[in-house]
Amino acid sequence: MSRILSAVAWPYANGPRHIGHVAGFGVPSDVFSRYMRMAGHDVLMVSGTDEHGTPILVQADKEGTTARELADRANRIIVTELAALGCSYDLFTRTTTANHYAVAQELFRQVHENGYMVQQTTSGAISPSTGRTLPDRYIEGTCPICGYGEARGDQCDNCGNQLDPTELVNPRSRINGETPEFVETEHFFLDLPALAEALGSWLDERAASGTWRPNVIKFSRNILGDIKPRAMTRDIDWGIPIPLPGWQENPNKRLYVWFDAVIGYLSASIEWARRTGEPERWREWWNDTGEHQALSYYFMGKDNITFHSQIWPAELLGYAGKGSRGGEPGPFGELNLPTEVVSSEYLTMEGKQFSSSRGVVIYLRDVLERYQVDALRYFICAAGPENADSDFTWREFVNRTNGELVAGWGNLVNRTATMIAKSFGEIPAPGPTEPIDEELLAAVRGGFDTVGDLIGRHRQRQAIGEAMRVVAEVNKYVTDTAPFKLKGADERERLGTVLHTAAQAVWDCNRLLAPFLPHSANQIHLTLGGSGELMPMPRVEEVTDLDDGHPYPVITGDYGATPRWESSPVPVGATVAKPSPIFTKLDQSIIDDELDRLRDASHDEADGG
Ligand code: MF3
Ligand code: ZN
Repeated sequence: MSRILSAVAWPYANGPRHIGHVAGFGVPSDVFSRYMRMAGHDVLMVSGTDEHGTPILVQADKEGTTARELADRANRIIVTELAALGCSYDLFTRTTTANHYAVAQELFRQVHENGYMVQQTTSGAISPSTGRTLPDRYIEGTCPICGYGEARGDQCDNCGNQLDPTELVNPRSRINGETPEFVETEHFFLDLPALAEALGSWLDERAASGTWRPNVIKFSRNILGDIKPRAMTRDIDWGIPIPLPGWQENPNKRLYVWFDAVIGYLSASIEWARRTGEPERWREWWNDTGEHQALSYYFMGKDNITFHSQIWPAELLGYAGKGSRGGEPGPFGELNLPTEVVSSEYLTMEGKQFSSSRGVVIYLRDVLERYQVDALRYFICAAGPENADSDFTWREFVNRTNGELVAGWGNLVNRTATMIAKSFGEIPAPGPTEPIDEELLAAVRGGFDTVGDLIGRHRQRQAIGEAMRVVAEVNKYVTDTAPFKLKGADERERLGTVLHTAAQAVWDCNRLLAPFLPHSANQIHLTLGGSGELMPMPRVEEVTDLDDGHPYPVITGDYGATPRWESSPVPVGATVAKPSPIFTKLDQSIIDDELDRLRDASHDEADGG
């Protein structure tokens, strides 16, 4: 048994999530965490809303509100949506807690103390018309690396490289199009070159493990090639104060949002431990004590790779004093580097890039309002952007829901339960078995190895495909054994055996599919005479800040009752009533309805609505 840290990317608290977001980090991390718990590991799954920096300021300005007010509101919306999606966080918190401030400042202080945070004079952008500093994200221009015309001052979304605004070709202000003026300003730079060797050895070791997705390890090793110091502070008034004398009090200098956001994984683990009343327990997932194995998996979309395979490991190495300048770890001790950076590619929609500003977007809450949550989870698992970009279309959503979920899995559950309800009213005990029965049960049991192995290696598309292949075998068994024809009194024993076998197979398939489809797993569990909840669900809890009393909602849950990843006996004698359908068949007309809705939304946006 290992300790598994499931570290899930922190969504910006600038509005509701769209399905592209949850296809990248939300569903894959939940499937993995649920499976790892079933496999008997001690999982700690943490995340929260990312509430600092210009992404929040830009949106707050747009809405004519303050960053804090927007963050409070968006945090609550995102918490509700992710809980409804069934994401089983141990703690989903936020970056504006006093705990997070203290942990982020502690990291900065020690990295600085160890000599990896160096002060440099640099050039910062100001708006010539207002004289105010122009944050990176307000600056747009041509990417010097790939030539993309709409690169942002902090990052190019096309090639994924981090940028400084001064590197942009033809920089312009996103507010009014004017060319920014660059003036001198003081900042702290993370001395990545002094940590490059340590980063390189870590990446070599990770590459040798052979488990990372090829795109991710390749990209991570590539960017090590032109490593240079990166500014970890900003001229901005929203964020965490720089914890050094002479800086702490300056209202216009703050830690860079990405410096603090990645620290969220650690601070959320600490907050979780403090809330459980065992404040040091987080160490089991972060300090390798040699007593047990502690592994960490980071889930995100591909535009986040740099920050997880370079900046975050560099912060951890600098904190431990493991670069060329030496140094000592602070009170948190030596912290584990990521075992694996699990990044997905992009989900597009009807062939276009998601863009809230252009109205090319499907919000999570709209999908959850109109469709079954597991239908969305199914689509993402089966057709999501795991190793290559993938496209969401309403046609494919309807076709997969109807053709695979409803006709494949839902129908199997339904016909099995209906026949049992009609002929026995309870799960029958088996009589003597025939080879066809034994073969089916063996095939289903074999699914635990194949599907489990694939999830463990982050091949969820293949994993759910394999589980559905097993479902198809059970469907074939029911067709081949034709229990609906076994009507004679002398066939009653055989009927019992066949329906018992089918029920056992469905019962086990339900477990194979449970990490992907936890909501319907609970319903199917009850349909087949099980009691209670098979898959524990997250809950939203109202808490107050442990240090300053500010109220906020968190996602948390008790996942201790998660069932094991193995076959378990179906409850013979348990009552089975005539079931109601598990999955809802979708009418073809929704394809056009949804496409019309999209068109209206993008027109509204184009009209400035
Ligand atoms: N907020 C960032 C984004 O949406 C992700 C931050 S992940 C973090 O791209 F954990 F590093 F914060
Ligand atoms: Zn680029």
